[in-house]
Amino acid sequence: MFIDDLRLEYIDAIYEIETMSFSLPWSKDSLIKELDNKNAHYFIALLDGKVVGYIGLWEIIDEGHITNIAIHPNFRGHGFGKILLTSAVDYCKNKNFYGITLEVRVSNTIAINLYESLGFVNCGIRKKFYTDNNEDGIIMWKYFR
Ligand SMILES: CC(C)(COP(=O)(O)OP(=O)(O)OC[C@H]1O[C@@H](n2cnc3c(N)ncnc32)[C@H](O)[C@@H]1OP(=O)(O)O)[C@@H](O)C(=O)NCCC(=O)NCCS
Repeated sequence: MFIDDLRLEYIDAIYEIETMSFSLPWSKDSLIKELDNKNAHYFIALLDGKVVGYIGLWEIIDEGHITNIAIHPNFRGHGFGKILLTSAVDYCKNKNFYGITLEVRVSNTIAINLYESLGFVNCGIRKKFYTDNNEDGIIMWKYFR
């Protein structure tokens, strides 16, 4: 697997994975705007030149906020999600950030397992955070200092 930065040529594949993975997917326009967002950083997982997954984060002062992470359904369970999350964590650690955070649906056991496996902890609940079904979001943090 090869990890690259976000490029325009990857947007169609990312959008396809996004729509296969989320009930509230980002629009293609929002993804394209990320190319010019100086505070956004993406890691794109490529297998034989094809996008199989991605993780995005926003740098907010000295915090990393994960915006999205998804692996193509055909490639889940092979460790790619963990490699991408580790890349984002290491990136934030190297920038001497205070920590890295994200929100996850309370029902998303697989993602919660992934985050906990890398040391993220439950720090609170955003009530009815997800507008499609009013599901609560767990706020998770991994602190570096
Ligand atoms: C969550 C997601 C990114 C994980 O990516 P992945 O490549 O399938 O995960 P990995 O193979 O790297 O596994 C990493 C960890 O996730 C957990 N995990 C993965 N598959 C699992 C499963 N079927 N059941 C339970 N836990 C699982 C395990 O903790 C695993 O660590 P381990 O192998 O050391 O036990 C992927 O399932 C996905 O794209 N889901 C849809 C989008 C999504 O929900 N994103 C998160 C939004 S907050």
